[in-house]
Amino acid sequence: MDLKNEILKKLVKSVNDCNFDGAGSLVVTFSNRPDLCDFQTNYALIVAKNMGMKPIEVAEKIVENIEKSEFFEFSVVAPGFINIKVTDKALSEFANFVKADKNLGVEQVEKKRFVFFDYGGANVAKELHVGHLRSPIIGEALKRLHAVMGDKVLADVHLGDFGLQMGLTVLQLKEDGYLDAFFDENVKDYSKIPMQDITLDLLNDEYPKASKRKDVDKEFKKMADLFTLYIQQHKEPYFSIYNKIKDLSVAEIRENYKLLNTTFDLYLGESDAEPFIDETIKIFVDKNLARESDGALVVDVARDGEHIPIPKKSEDEPQRYKNPMPPAIIKKYNGGDLYATTDLATILMRNREYSPDEIVYITDNRQSVHFEQVFRCSKLAGISPEKQKLTHVAFGTMNGRDGKPFKTREGGVVRYKDVINLLIDSAEKKLEENGIVGDKELARRIGVGAMKFGDLSNVVGTDYVFDMDKFMSFDGKTGPYIQYTIARINSILSKADAQPSEVDVQNLEERKIVLAILKLNSSYNVCYENYSLNTLCLATFDLASAFSTYYNNCRILSEKDVKRKKSMLAVCLLVKNCLEKALYTLGIDSVEKM
Ligand code: ARG
Repeated sequence: MDLKNEILKKLVKSVNDCNFDGAGSLVVTFSNRPDLCDFQTNYALIVAKNMGMKPIEVAEKIVENIEKSEFFEFSVVAPGFINIKVTDKALSEFANFVKADKNLGVEQVEKKRFVFFDYGGANVAKELHVGHLRSPIIGEALKRLHAVMGDKVLADVHLGDFGLQMGLTVLQLKEDGYLDAFFDENVKDYSKIPMQDITLDLLNDEYPKASKRKDVDKEFKKMADLFTLYIQQHKEPYFSIYNKIKDLSVAEIRENYKLLNTTFDLYLGESDAEPFIDETIKIFVDKNLARESDGALVVDVARDGEHIPIPKKSEDEPQRYKNPMPPAIIKKYNGGDLYATTDLATILMRNREYSPDEIVYITDNRQSVHFEQVFRCSKLAGISPEKQKLTHVAFGTMNGRDGKPFKTREGGVVRYKDVINLLIDSAEKKLEENGIVGDKELARRIGVGAMKFGDLSNVVGTDYVFDMDKFMSFDGKTGPYIQYTIARINSILSKADAQPSEVDVQNLEERKIVLAILKLNSSYNVCYENYSLNTLCLATFDLASAFSTYYNNCRILSEKDVKRKKSMLAVCLLVKNCLEKALYTLGIDSVEKM
């Protein structure tokens, strides 16, 4: 049951009865003048001219033809708007329907699909930093949203575990003397070699060191390429060393994702696609889709009007392109595999093992060209069937207050863990002000929830400012405000000397709450269509805020009329359930008290 849809059906029927055109394009929107009406349509304004009529006449005819109902009141306003008011009775019925429905009235998609999510994407041996926060936040929420909307979902973390960083790290460790035992010719069984000297802290030092060095030392870079190739070829002892580093790193990565309420069904990585790489390359070669270029194997993916060379002003200027869409490199000069190679082989693997209707990748927008290349390649080669949807959800950057990418005071990269600790500390201070001391898990829920809500409130593709004070405010469009509203309802429900019954809408505050639920429920579909959670965040806030007004204006606990009190408590419980469902979808924990 969706009141907005019911209204639409009535209007369409009347338009058809009147023999007017364009019933298919009629839209009903939430009113932007809630003091006048709850919904409206400007259909008459759009179609009147073509019919040679005045908009007001069209609107009046439509309204005259609608059968009277105890649910809706239709009226006409100059120059031709149709305003719709929903009666208290209709709102009560809707509220009780939502209350009883197992999906709380959120309408699922008609065509349920199997959607595969690829997010997280942490890189083994590289420490997680602030840039790794958005993918798990957005990915987890999108996955949950799809599940709420009825899709079957599966999530894979797709670790970066097959690239140059592996070769760099192993080479640096070797040069610094940590791997002598592995390179001792007498050693046969690498699994017995103790690794106590190799810690996460060491890896966090060694990789950046190597990464800097590769930019200035060509020989070092070449050697790292070779080490990477050996790892990709499972050559010993490189492969055993790599596996030990990977185990260490993945344990840490799992912990980090858990702090963000992010979970995966599959903990696979680029390396798991390795058995599919030869076959993938062969498909491109056999279908004549690849050509050689400077020893590498590339696939041309540019279409007309793309990748047009811009004439150089001088000889030594690098070549630039209009609408850049460079060829995808699927084999490196030394036979090594690249990011595109493993992504293509991974699509082949996923289709062999799962064949989902859609694969959704969540990364920052600097990878847009990469994914466009990979998607085009997969379609060209038929690795992804024509009917399969491939989606890249490209998010913007999390900036500091100065509007530039978030950095430490010294200008360094902010570590992932540091951000989380900052959030937890700040939440602990807030809780202390409310007299709650020493509850670390509660502080994590609030701190992390604050960041997630702050993040997801933005249209996914835009940059935003990480503003801790704003995110953490208990009052405003924030995660803590929603959690606080739930905690407040918990307290009302536990203090009440009566049980919630059915909702019976009696006043303006209750009308606003039920309308806010209606809006919240319709926002799920908007987010589903847009791959962005911002509409859901806003609607969740609007519901919490409608509840605050209700709480301030209407005495619930001291209500004398027991029947009325039970109905009011039912409103409270309904709001709590709807808010909790929204928070769950966003991947934010609810809290009992705060
Ligand atoms: N590891 C990658 C990075 O750090 C992200 C992986 C995204 N997923 C993918 N299938 N390429 O940028």
